[in-house]
Amino acid sequence: PNPFTSSAGYPSPWGNGGEGWDEAYAKAREFVAKLTLVEKVNLTTGTGWEADRCVGATGSVPRLGFRGFCLQDGPLGIRYTDHNSAFPAGINAAATWSRRLLRARGEAMGAEFHGKGIDVQLGPVAGPLGRVPQGGRNWEGFGPDPYLTGVSMAHTIQGIQSRGVLACAKHYILNEQEHYRNSISVRLDDRTMHELYLWPFADAVRAGVASVMCSYNKIEGVYACENNYTTNFLLKNELGFQGFVMSDWGAQKTTLGSALNGLDMAMPGDFMGGNRPPYNALWGGNLTEHVLRGQVPQWRVDDMVVRIMAAYFKVRRDSVGKYAERPGEVNFSSWTTKREGWMHESSNSTWGVVNGFVDVQGGGGEHAALIREIGAKSIVLLKNTGVLPLTKPASIAVVGRDAQDDPRGPNACKERACIEATVAMGWGSGTAEFPYLISPATAIKTRAAADGTTFFNTTSNWDLETAKAVARNASVAVVCVVAHAGENFVSVGGNAGDRNNLTLWDNGDALIRAVASVNPNTIVVLHTPGPVALAQHKSHPNVSAILWAGYPGQESGNALIDVLYGAVNPQARSPFTWAESPEQYGASLLFSAPDPRNPEQTFSEGVFIDYRHFQRAGIAPTYEFGFGLSYTTFEYRNLRVVVGNSTQGGAQVVMQGSTKPAPTYGTLDRRVGANLAPEGFSRITPYVYPWLSGPNVSVALLQNVSTTAATDGSAQPLLPAGGAPGGNPSLYDVLYTVRAEIENTGAVAGTEIPQLYVQLGGQENPWGVLRGFDDVTLAPGESKTVTFELTRRDVSNWNVSSQNWEIWTKEKVIFLGSSSTRIRLNATLPAPP
Ligand code: NOJ
Repeated sequence: PNPFTSSAGYPSPWGNGGEGWDEAYAKAREFVAKLTLVEKVNLTTGTGWEADRCVGATGSVPRLGFRGFCLQDGPLGIRYTDHNSAFPAGINAAATWSRRLLRARGEAMGAEFHGKGIDVQLGPVAGPLGRVPQGGRNWEGFGPDPYLTGVSMAHTIQGIQSRGVLACAKHYILNEQEHYRNSISVRLDDRTMHELYLWPFADAVRAGVASVMCSYNKIEGVYACENNYTTNFLLKNELGFQGFVMSDWGAQKTTLGSALNGLDMAMPGDFMGGNRPPYNALWGGNLTEHVLRGQVPQWRVDDMVVRIMAAYFKVRRDSVGKYAERPGEVNFSSWTTKREGWMHESSNSTWGVVNGFVDVQGGGGEHAALIREIGAKSIVLLKNTGVLPLTKPASIAVVGRDAQDDPRGPNACKERACIEATVAMGWGSGTAEFPYLISPATAIKTRAAADGTTFFNTTSNWDLETAKAVARNASVAVVCVVAHAGENFVSVGGNAGDRNNLTLWDNGDALIRAVASVNPNTIVVLHTPGPVALAQHKSHPNVSAILWAGYPGQESGNALIDVLYGAVNPQARSPFTWAESPEQYGASLLFSAPDPRNPEQTFSEGVFIDYRHFQRAGIAPTYEFGFGLSYTTFEYRNLRVVVGNSTQGGAQVVMQGSTKPAPTYGTLDRRVGANLAPEGFSRITPYVYPWLSGPNVSVALLQNVSTTAATDGSAQPLLPAGGAPGGNPSLYDVLYTVRAEIENTGAVAGTEIPQLYVQLGGQENPWGVLRGFDDVTLAPGESKTVTFELTRRDVSNWNVSSQNWEIWTKEKVIFLGSSSTRIRLNATLPAPP
């Protein structure tokens, strides 16, 4: 049977606590039991686009003094406010391969969101994963490898949530491109779903993520925000997700379909414009009506609210003040930069102080220092013929628009959707306002002044004669070039979010060639969201160094000089494969659908994306996944494998048994009068309210509402691969411990990123899949032992018929290397315990 359709009508699993959630559930149940139906509904529904001051806001429970939730973008810092930091993008964070830095970045972002009174940070991103390199929003996430993305998700989430802010894993699921994002229907096989796209979400759930955002697209013809299979079956049952599911903005399509198929919070609540009486919402009063008529069972609406409140208690949001000295009120407005404005922008209602200008940047430059560190440690050194690190060159030329400050300030481009100066983040909702942006030109100029180096700077990408004239006389020339990508509500240069190709923008290739034609020490710096075609520069003898700096955030130039001058020995490794054309990647983006009203796409490449595809197809990439140079060299020795370990490694447990029946909390007052707005309440329009539209609404129990599979609140069977947040706990048993020695054999200290790949065996599997990595800092001559633990999940494949993970009886080999192709040591994996 097709698992995508066979489970239709399956009831939405009710949250039941469990590992890490029990205390939160106890508090949530107590709270929810006190609520009336309209109070419950009010917490499930957004008040409308621009109705309050955050990009998303729910209603409140005034009777209990509980303010509504504030939800704010995005994955690299706070969007639409001030006195906040602009962190390096997700793709840069992944490029550090450092759990410590991923966690620290999450903590710092969480602290900033907390300081602004935000309850939910709308990040991090595991969808898009990065099926195609042109994907407009790939840079918001952590790259196309599910293991690296999964680890990155977990550490980011734990960092954010440790500061009392709810994280949101988005976009769930298969939102792999921006073209047709609101209508595309994706088809893929069940194994690919589990082994690739669902994998990092499992890590997010296991890390205790508070919320998940369902995406705009369809899966097998059904919208993600009302998809029984992906939400109820996979996320809430198999992965045991205990938090709440919110819709992407406008991704909710129906009242009942979303409620019964597992949506818990509707965002932004209205139809994003206009007013559609009587409710101006699919939920709000509309949901109240459906509950009273029996179309949505009470247990389902109770479950929505218990999940929302459990997520709130889970991150200890109730103890605000613990993480900062100010109370947790919202102290900014997304809709104006001025001190005063409308409290309710969409209705021009209630003028007052809306921006408190609260500085959340960590005090003492703490976050700036972290941003600079991550910035430097996410720069991948792709080529170096010896020009780097620089030591006080006599003169240095900086070339290119992408190196420059924008005289209008770093936020001059709305939503960052232009390339008129240096680029340090992509465009769209994944942006934050820059507090400042240190450009490469500014940082290099400052450094040159300190060193007594003569400094030249030329800004035009099209005036190649001037570029050459300037570069000709310099000892070294640094050319900064760009490619850009973002979310498709804006297009830049004809790129509707997704990049149209993999070439550099803004005449970048010609600029590099011009400079390299006159200067043998040409250093290329790339600010790109992902791979660009580099072969011509890789092979050019005068291009002495190539560095990918990604989207580094506010400390861009400072991070760059740290690497150029050797204060930081590059440790970053590419979190994606570099090739010359989109076609080489073997998975294609749908730019133009045969039937534009019904765009469809099959992920026929299965699990073979990015490096998995290149290995199978025998295509040599320009630079491979996991590649990056250092200023030192490392040696690998003595690979050992131990089967099992002392504490874990038992037999796989197949989850059996069933849940308890769905609980309900409080009693449902079915009288119309009990569900109306209080007498004399004066509404603002448009704004979403939880009340019935008027005294004449019929809430008579519908006689024909039968208990269908979807409304059935009786005990439900557990799934074999399920049973706890992140899936069956025995999937995470450690079956193997792998060790090796790494030695720094060069002359300077450096950090190596040893990468462990596992060949699971057989034609169905890639040559190798990433299953471990570490960052090891070593002084010259020093060596250390690195340890990797392989779990049952790490060495299993998804069995479609048993619907469980299973270790296939194929010979398995492990490879330890400095990239996905530079393998230093290998060993056959012994049979599992
Ligand atoms: C739509 C985007 O897809 C999502 O990532 C974002 O959080 C919401 N808009 C809110 O801005």
